[in-house]
Amino acid sequence: MAVIYNDEKQIFHLQTKGTSYVMQVVRNKYLLHLYWGKRVQNYCGTRSIILKNRGFAPNPQENDRDFSLDTLPMEYPHGGNGDFRSCAFGIREQNGSRICDLSYVGYEIMKGKPKLEGLPCSFGSEEEVSTLKIHMKDKISGLSVFLLYSVFENADVITRSVVFENRGNSPLTLTKMLSMSVDFRESGFKVMTLYGAHNNERNVDLRPLKSGMVQIESLRGTSSPQQAPFMALLEANASEESGNIYSANFVYSGNFTALAQADAFENVRFQMGMNPWNGEWYLEPNEKFFTPETVMVFSSQGLNGMSQIYHNFYQHNLIRSKFAFQPRPILINNWEATFFDFNEDKLLALADKAAQTGIELFVLDDGWFGHRDNDDSSLGDWVTDKRKLPLGLSHLSDEIHNRGLKFGLWFEPEMISRNSELFRNHPEYALHTEGRPYTFGRGQLVLDLSNGEVCRYVIESVSKVLRETKIDYVKWDMNRHLTDVGSINFPMERQGEIFHRYVLGLYKILEELTTEFPDILFESCSSGGGRFDPGMLYYMPQTWCSDNTDAVCRMKIQYATSFTYPVVTMGAHVSEVPNQQTGRVTPLQTRGQVAMSANFGYEIDLTKLSSEELDEIKKQVAFYKDIRNTIQFGKFYRIKSPFDENVAQWNFVSGDGSQVVAFHFEILSQPAAPIKILKLKGLEADAVYRDISTGYEYGGDELMYSGISIPIEKKDFRSVCFRFVKVN
Ligand code: DGJ
Repeated sequence: MAVIYNDEKQIFHLQTKGTSYVMQVVRNKYLLHLYWGKRVQNYCGTRSIILKNRGFAPNPQENDRDFSLDTLPMEYPHGGNGDFRSCAFGIREQNGSRICDLSYVGYEIMKGKPKLEGLPCSFGSEEEVSTLKIHMKDKISGLSVFLLYSVFENADVITRSVVFENRGNSPLTLTKMLSMSVDFRESGFKVMTLYGAHNNERNVDLRPLKSGMVQIESLRGTSSPQQAPFMALLEANASEESGNIYSANFVYSGNFTALAQADAFENVRFQMGMNPWNGEWYLEPNEKFFTPETVMVFSSQGLNGMSQIYHNFYQHNLIRSKFAFQPRPILINNWEATFFDFNEDKLLALADKAAQTGIELFVLDDGWFGHRDNDDSSLGDWVTDKRKLPLGLSHLSDEIHNRGLKFGLWFEPEMISRNSELFRNHPEYALHTEGRPYTFGRGQLVLDLSNGEVCRYVIESVSKVLRETKIDYVKWDMNRHLTDVGSINFPMERQGEIFHRYVLGLYKILEELTTEFPDILFESCSSGGGRFDPGMLYYMPQTWCSDNTDAVCRMKIQYATSFTYPVVTMGAHVSEVPNQQTGRVTPLQTRGQVAMSANFGYEIDLTKLSSEELDEIKKQVAFYKDIRNTIQFGKFYRIKSPFDENVAQWNFVSGDGSQVVAFHFEILSQPAAPIKILKLKGLEADAVYRDISTGYEYGGDELMYSGISIPIEKKDFRSVCFRFVKVN
């Protein structure tokens, strides 16, 4: 039973195979949070809450000083009437009142999981998931709040979202609408977040939470490379292997906030949701508002345990593309090989070399449309540039297919260049505030996707190309963040909705395109991994991890990306040296093995490489084909973090347990170098494994507990790969 209700005590107990989540209705009105953590068989809740009169803690009842919303663990708190901690939602009535007072009304338990209108969200069959819907109501405004909890028992995941419904007679404004709020009756956590920048996505930040708040957010209109929409609370002793971790990931691609707040009594509040800054919603009577979903994962087996829950869940219950479990093609992308300077001959020369090495997909990146010789024109004009491709895109696609390769194409559909036919004809399509100057990013403007007509234009112009040309793959790029957010199409009281309406417009476009073109493999990109979030993954099963292809930087970026996202979703390419982002020269073997640790490809001018280099690439491609199933669909284990040491180590175990691939990377050569040991994870302790290249045999327990020693080599940026098969 995924949802257990104790009528007498009014306790809701959500139970997965490893987790319990418990709430209780008290005084037939207040919904309190009792517990989230390791699964308990029977939750009686006898002494979970102790009431205590505290100084400055307000009371709903005059003569009941022990009872205060400020000190109780609240399930979905509202400020204004006694809880001074961060509130989960806010309202403004027509008379300006911002007070709200929720009372419990009732609940419903259903099999399966309802869809969230207009939003990407996880899914599951009636056998996989049950949903609890709790109804709360503010009597004075007439606002009903439905808290949705979907319990994926075997996947070990609980998702949360909220539906607001105005059942009153007057409009009201939602001023904050978070998707999740959890109050812990304990503290001492470390807060983990993933921060970064363009070319430097997802670094690990681990901060002790003592008092006050640790908060991250995006106000950029997208989930952003600056902060990932993810937060985890780690108990003091938690590590990659062990310890309790409470985490949440937001299924949304726009502005968000996530915070952990410690109060004076060693309680911690953990919240996640849409950012309230410029994020209001005007709700007419009978209208509803759906918040995006948070995926909540508790792990009692450290960060690796947490990641494996996310990986499995996203693959099975979030990524809806038919490609989720299909081997992904090894690609060559022409971007770093040619940038904007190409013609058909040049592209076909690259394709010829790619075909010779066994690469499977050729991707034509930016610059094939309008009059785009650099990045200051033509976005929005999705018409082939006949100067570069006089015989047309279809001709190029046919030629690529004739060489045995699939053909992929780049778009940046959410954008408009001032120097474009689209802008000359429709300046009003650009996101802007009437009478104010434009703000540029990479010299371009953003389309106003809050406007249905603009969404229609994007859908039609992109579909036309996809219908007319044989295209197997689309790279969907987005190279700037949102400014001048406003729209003349909406009245004053709805101007706070435009950020969210932009995201809803984007999701509508993606819904239509991915539905019409299910056979196209979509890869999302935002100047690299700037919009790597579960919302985009719902539509597109892979994401370009970073524009930074330097092998050393990529070790970190891929390591941290794997905290929540399956390895198969991470696009990773071998590029030239000196690396274009860092100037670093790393061996081709290391570049190959770092990229092979994810969804593999190349972004390099193969026509300029020596025959030795091409031979090595041929071998890399063949090797990846051999290990692809294990890498893309096996279990991934992080072993040593490049954030902590001069090494990075990880290994993969195939679904059936028979194949193992392990990588050891050493960044700088050291004097008096210690001998490094690689201790694998996830093997069967009593099985025997054979190293495919040496024929040596090892016990599974030997490989995991004693490990293998890595010979010293006086060389920077080196990598070693081991491949084992289970022999009994
Ligand atoms: C940013 C992407 O991350 C790159 O891979 C490339 O597609 C460029 N945009 C093209 O403008």
